[in-house]
Parts: sequence; structure tokens; C-alpha cells
Amino acid sequence: MPITVNGRAVSPPADARVSLLDFLREDLGQSGAKKGCNQGACGACTVLLDGERILACLTLAVQCEGRHVTTIEGIGQPGALHPLQQAFVDHDGFQCGYCTPGQICSAIGMAAELRRGVPSHVTGDLVTDVIALSDDELRERMSGNLCRCGAYNGMVAAIEEIFGEAKA
Ligand code: FES
Ligand code: FES
Repeated sequence: MPITVNGRAVSPPADARVSLLDFLREDLGQSGAKKGCNQGACGACTVLLDGERILACLTLAVQCEGRHVTTIEGIGQPGALHPLQQAFVDHDGFQCGYCTPGQICSAIGMAAELRRGVPSHVTGDLVTDVIALSDDELRERMSGNLCRCGAYNGMVAAIEEIFGEAKA
């Protein structure tokens, strides 16, 4: 069964051991998702699977058969940036930029989780339908995406600008 990657149906790899990250980068040329740790610790490989954020290094490509994968290339392109990409630029939310694709995919997935009322470790109200994007929620929910340059303040400002309408 094909995998839909950024709107294009592709055949899964013949080798069932291939990670989604390697499949995207090496077979499909979608190099936006980065290989940082390759063991689930840094978040640089974060992509969206049917709108949910996942770590592509810990996902087998064949697990995505019949599903939709969105990488940073499918979120925006030069000249047609996603508003969050533009906000990262406006707020200097990156330095080397290596972690940026994962940060942006993760933030988009996080916003969807908030809208669905998915609680985090710091959520106080567990019965609300929509969780506000407080500073604690933002930092807790983005804590799986590391940036060794320490551009966190700009990232927080960018994410708040775009998804902060539900801010407490
Ligand atoms: S490369 Fe996947 S979490 Fe680090
Ligand atoms: S901007 Fe360099 S690792 Fe994040």
C-alpha cells in the first residue's frame, strides 16, 4: 500500500527495517527532517503522520503505509512559507537551523493536541475541551525538541505569535 508523502503517493521500501527518516532522506530526497541522535532523544527528525507529530527515526517506513506523512517541505516552501516559518524568521528563532524543521513540525502537532484537549504533564485542568497555551504548557510540550544553539527564546516568541490565541 502506498505512503502519501507531502501529497505524493510513493511505494514503501522493500526492506521493512528501513526507518521513516532514512526513507524520507535517502529514498525520497526529503532532507528537511534531520538526523540528530537517531535514537529518539533530540526531536530533529520530527514529522507529522496523519497530523500527529512523530519521531521519524523511531518509526519504520512500512508502518506508514496507507497514511499521510508531512515533512517540513510539505509545510512551506521559500516564497510560500507557513506562518510559523515566517515567525521563526521574524523572531530569530534559529541559529544554525538544524533543529528548526523538527521544531516547526512539533509546534504544529502541539497546537493540534491543545485544540483536542490532550493533557500534558503540567496541565492542571484535565476536563477542559481546549487547553490554553500557557508558557508552562509550551515549554513542557516542546521539551522533546532540543536546540544546541539555545535559540529557545526566539522559538517561544514565534510559537506564541502563531498559536498563542488560546494563551491563558
Ligand atoms: S534524530 Fe530522531 S529524535 Fe533525534
Ligand atoms: S538552531 Fe541550531 S540546533 Fe537549533
